[in-house]
Amino acid sequence: MKTLFSFAVMILIVSCSQVSYSQGSQKKQAGIDSRVDSVLSLMTLEEKIGQLNLPSAGAFVTGAVGSSDIAKKIEEGNVGGLFNIKTVANIKEMQRIAVEKSRLKIPLIFGMDVIHGYESVFPIPLGLSCSWDMNLIERSARIAAVEASADGINWTFSPMVDISRDPRWGRVSEGSGEDPYLGSQIAKAMVKGFQGDDLSANNTIMSCVKHYALYGASEAGRDYNTVDMSRHRMYNEYLPPYKAAVDAGVGSIMTSFNEIDGIPATANKWLLTDVLRKEWGFNGFVVSDYTGVSEMVTHGYGDLQSVSAKAVGAGLDMDMVSEGLLTTLAKSVQDGKITAKQIDEACRRILKAKFLLGLFDDPYKYCDEGRSKSEIFNAANRAEARSTAAQSFVLLKNKNNVLPIKKSGTIALIGPLADAKENMTGTWSVAARFSESISVLEGLRKAVGANAKVVYAKGSNLDENETLEANATMFGKSLHRDKRSAAELRSEAVRIAKRADIIVVAAGEAAEMSGEAASRTNIEIPETQRELIKELLKTGKPVVLVLFTGRPLALTWEEENVPAILNVWFGGSEAGDAIADVLFGDVNPSGKLSMTFPQNVGQIPLYYAHKNSGRPLSGPWFQKFLSNYLDVSNDPLYPFGFGLSYTNFTYSDITLSTREITSADSLRVSINVTNTGTRDGSEVVQLYIRDLVGSVTRPVKELKGFQKIALKAGETRTVNFTLGMQDLSFYNPDLKFETEPGEFHVFIGGNSRDVKQAAFVLK
Ligand code: BGC
Repeated sequence: MKTLFSFAVMILIVSCSQVSYSQGSQKKQAGIDSRVDSVLSLMTLEEKIGQLNLPSAGAFVTGAVGSSDIAKKIEEGNVGGLFNIKTVANIKEMQRIAVEKSRLKIPLIFGMDVIHGYESVFPIPLGLSCSWDMNLIERSARIAAVEASADGINWTFSPMVDISRDPRWGRVSEGSGEDPYLGSQIAKAMVKGFQGDDLSANNTIMSCVKHYALYGASEAGRDYNTVDMSRHRMYNEYLPPYKAAVDAGVGSIMTSFNEIDGIPATANKWLLTDVLRKEWGFNGFVVSDYTGVSEMVTHGYGDLQSVSAKAVGAGLDMDMVSEGLLTTLAKSVQDGKITAKQIDEACRRILKAKFLLGLFDDPYKYCDEGRSKSEIFNAANRAEARSTAAQSFVLLKNKNNVLPIKKSGTIALIGPLADAKENMTGTWSVAARFSESISVLEGLRKAVGANAKVVYAKGSNLDENETLEANATMFGKSLHRDKRSAAELRSEAVRIAKRADIIVVAAGEAAEMSGEAASRTNIEIPETQRELIKELLKTGKPVVLVLFTGRPLALTWEEENVPAILNVWFGGSEAGDAIADVLFGDVNPSGKLSMTFPQNVGQIPLYYAHKNSGRPLSGPWFQKFLSNYLDVSNDPLYPFGFGLSYTNFTYSDITLSTREITSADSLRVSINVTNTGTRDGSEVVQLYIRDLVGSVTRPVKELKGFQKIALKAGETRTVNFTLGMQDLSFYNPDLKFETEPGEFHVFIGGNSRDVKQAAFVLK
């Protein structure tokens, strides 16, 4: 009886599919809706609740699949999707259980944190954002989608679009920095890259934008901490990137761990229903973060049954790991805490995602052994990862043009991160092949071949504190701690460095010094590494710092003392080659910071789009009774948008198409940019505005446009921007997105500090 019934469901599903996929997209949508309804009508309440359950498969990927608890749950219809599972063979086996053994044969969705590449690893997102190149960013997500889908995965927990102005927070490495405009452009590019034009294609995957919302404002930069923020700030500064992802058609969204207005995001109805669905029109599904549901018990928001019911009532559809929904919702329906209709809605959204991915038509469509052999970590993808990495590097200092260096003589490569394959891909690179990543040492040696000699010494451990080092190098990212004393390591390094013409120091943070649960209160380079750099400087040789970091660091000492600093973030599997490309000048660096570098940790939060206050400092620092510090100026060490090149760019004055516009117009803003140096190079031309008077006060500068242009040595280009009403609008006290008449300033430059300025009036 049971078998006959299931067979009937399959026929219904398959025949519907044949009708709908041959028609236009609106019909396709309507077709999907009716197919979802038809499946839903066959489901028991328990089966519907089962679809809302997302366990992690992590523990049994390599274990005996058949006998595991999860396999049994799948068979019983208690699992909607799985994550932390990879390879076609493993995924196929799980899918087989779902579509052959469960009563209704509903396929599973398979998720993973495909954050910055899959096996071909691209730079950490913060680094990627510094390329300011939307095509490049989209392509990186496209390649990640192709590789992940070739390995059985069809859903990624990316992009992470949390705006953050707090570099103590380790997860800034996973986002795109401090700015809502840049963050929104990147959110769109990533969603487009993952999802492509057709989610049902076998090489596109569903994107899940996270962590909704405001996670990047965790108090004191401590992970999982409380957030409290005004609506005005949320709408104007923190929510735009999530909205941009929704506007770009993202299929799913993940709630954040923090609370908002005292209500955990995972059960926040205002956030999940009023804003997300009603205001923004989101029609995908909402998943919690890892144990986000059960953590609400710890937040002090109720017991498991009550927080689970509240979450679904608020608009949550899927429960990652907690199994709060699975174990309590049926009782909550009985108790009248939630309606069966609300469960239908959640289940409907998950089924719809599976239809959109084409899983009902072919549950194994992402399980193609042939693709997995040819499309993952292949030469083309690795080449793209290499060139992308070079675009993410930011040249912070280059006194007397120490860089680029010549491929001749002897180069001393020193530092704990110089020969550290496992660290090249940075945090959240769960599918990376560490042993095949290119280290700096390999990259440099390969690049110089027989033309120069590269000599190496480790010079120091990551940190004198062994426990800190262990915590900063977990997940197989050991830096192979050297048992010798710091003094011994340094003296060996100095001895070797003395033989060289130039010293390259690979230093900074280890991969897991940023990322989840990796907050720091001291954001300087660890003391032992600084001591090493001091000793190397004493040799009198030119020193170049190749800086690894997952966050803005306080580099005041380095800026004062080290002649050249190239910030390489964590550049991915090909980073060593990319670093060589830039150090030797085969690629001219063009990255620009997407997050302000402070002078010290006490200035945090420090960001360019700040408010003026009633007592801004104007004129020299220090002034009594103005908004400044006694011990340090208000200036950043490196401002947002900053980054040097091996050439120089100059900017003309700004030309405006008119000095007065009405709300029916747009304004053309133009500037001539000239490459005045002797090398070809690329420049990110940035446009900012300031709305001088507002019904809520406006920041002193807001990014509203940018263009990355390539200029030959000596070339001049006119760069045109168009400012429309969208760019001049903001969320007013009623949270309406509108313009207000009045005077505006417009600024253009190569960073947020050094700009040309003009003014216009909106009538
Ligand atoms: C993180 C998410 C991630 C999830 C699944 C959580 O701890 O906050 O960003 O997607 O785990 O791995």
